[in-house]
Amino acid sequence: MKNLIVVLMGGISRERKISFLTGKAFSKALIKRGYKIKEIDAKGNFVDKIKKINPKIVLNALHGRYGEDGFVQTILESIKIPYTHSGVSSSSLAMDKVISRKIFKKNNIRVPKYFLLEKNKKENIIKKIKNKKIKFPIVIKPVNEGSSLGVYICNNKIQFKKNLEKLKKIYSKVLIEEYIPGKEIQAAVMGNKALGAIELVPKRKFYDYTAKYSSKAKTKHIMPAKISKIKYNEVLFLAKKAHKSLGCKGITRSDFRFYNNKFYLLEINTQPGMTKLSLVPEIAKYSGISFEDLVVWIVKDASNNR
Ligand SMILES: Nc1ncnc2c1ncn2[C@@H]1O[C@H](COP(=O)(O)OP(=O)(O)OP(=O)(O)O)[C@@H](O)[C@H]1O
Ligand SMILES: [Mg+2]
Repeated sequence: MKNLIVVLMGGISRERKISFLTGKAFSKALIKRGYKIKEIDAKGNFVDKIKKINPKIVLNALHGRYGEDGFVQTILESIKIPYTHSGVSSSSLAMDKVISRKIFKKNNIRVPKYFLLEKNKKENIIKKIKNKKIKFPIVIKPVNEGSSLGVYICNNKIQFKKNLEKLKKIYSKVLIEEYIPGKEIQAAVMGNKALGAIELVPKRKFYDYTAKYSSKAKTKHIMPAKISKIKYNEVLFLAKKAHKSLGCKGITRSDFRFYNNKFYLLEINTQPGMTKLSLVPEIAKYSGISFEDLVVWIVKDASNNR
């Protein structure tokens, strides 16, 4: 159907539940603006379903693996249906925290000190941590996950070993990195423009899954981030540079730590969340863009060859 928009949500990643929240928010906004939509769960034979419907656009509301890593983007390129957010290569680069960091470093964007641990490779990890001059607390996390799933902040060797075993059971690659104290600041980019930066103050140990999605966790959102004007402009500049360096499209959100007057980029998200507590909608609203306007912009930005 020529005027129909498919909102692609759910999927098979560990962020399936969050993707439904993002997708439903997209659908609601589009219906409000008079668009005809069809929601599709990116599970099972969803490609056949999309082909049969032959929509004008696919609005990608997926998060995590297969939805945010170039996989679904490749399918949509091959069936020639315009889709939203980043394209094949930028999505896959951004999803990989090791490859994207290499590009960020080349572009003079500071990232935490880190190294990659590969499964089945025997090495003395504690020695490597010492050589890299990484001190406790140490952060360990998967290379290609989201929503803070599998992120552990370890205060000592015992915690480190215990959590590393947990991660190694699920993921083939694990990142080991220095903990950056200070502030949590995230900045949104929309097309060619940096929209704004928000500061998060979790009541929990860190900005984990619960702090991100549960209002009961009472994470404080400070919009705009409480930093000097110069630093605010700097973080917007860095977010735009990160977005450009990977060739991202549409909307992205870059997650930073701010410590000793320096920004450290943790990662860029090419499919940022659009839940009630999500940050891109809040940043957009502050800069005068309603959620409906934001979603209409995303849809109008859809294309192939992204
Ligand atoms: N090196 C670090 N130093 C301090 N805090 C960290 C570090 N790495 C991760 N964190 C904390 O964990 C959170 C999640 O980390 P990260 O953004 O890497 O994971 P993610 O699962 O990709 O998140 P997202 O939901 O944004 O996709 C960060 O927002 C931060 O609060
Ligand atoms: Mg993050």
